[in-house]
Amino acid sequence: MTYAIIGSGLVGTTLAGFFAAKGIPVLIANSRGPGTLGGSTAELGAGVKAVAVEEAVAADIVFFAVGSIAFKTVGAVLDDWTGKIVVDLTNGFMLPRDVQEAEFGGRLTSEVNAERVPGAKLVKAFNQLPFKVLAKPVPDDIGKRVVFVSSDHADASATIAGVAERLGFAPIEVGKIAEGGRLIQARASLVFQNLIKYPM
Ligand SMILES: NC(=O)c1ccc[n+]([C@@H]2O[C@H](COP(=O)([O-])OP(=O)(O)OC[C@H]3O[C@@H](n4cnc5c(N)ncnc54)[C@H](OP(=O)(O)O)[C@@H]3O)[C@@H](O)[C@H]2O)c1
Repeated sequence: MTYAIIGSGLVGTTLAGFFAAKGIPVLIANSRGPGTLGGSTAELGAGVKAVAVEEAVAADIVFFAVGSIAFKTVGAVLDDWTGKIVVDLTNGFMLPRDVQEAEFGGRLTSEVNAERVPGAKLVKAFNQLPFKVLAKPVPDDIGKRVVFVSSDHADASATIAGVAERLGFAPIEVGKIAEGGRLIQARASLVFQNLIKYPM
């Protein structure tokens, strides 16, 4: 299984740090090209490799850590995403209302985003916490930070829950995008709390 993160901003770099900490190789790309990423990838270690977006999209699992509008641009890099899992970290509710309406027409953002990566199995995950909270260490005896995972594809949801576990989180699968997944896309729902799962 190969992994790539598109977006080297606040949340993309944070996510890359989780891979680096667990020694899992990951590619990372941004809009300005790999030459702009030397400093941050060197800090994270040899397992994090800066590449062009075109190389990043060749990975089996591609995390979209870009804004909601850029999601469309990155989705258009491939005509066919069949065989890949795209993890959608975007929070469309951060956009101004009129832009949300124009982009998503009242639909759930991840439903629309899924259409922007045709053939891919889209999974919504890692979007519900600010990057600083996501990155805050939780002592082992206290537990693991919860991340919510939603997809219309049960196998892809299970795969990303497995990845989240390997990265040190306690994933909770909430089902399909239009069902449990709806919660992950609504500002101020319970899932936007910093939840810790205690060891049982
Ligand atoms: N910040 C948070 O705490 C947080 C938490 C959870 C979820 N989210 C969501 O995660 C997404 C990213 O947030 P962020 O705060 O990390 O944003 P950010 O700091 O502005 O970073 C956005 C990244 O996307 C890259 N990008 C934009 N267009 C691109 C394109 N066409 N091709 C490749 N890369 C492109 C940018 O590249 P350049 O660096 O070259 O400009 C940048 O690295 C948003 O949808 C946000 O709602 C954010």
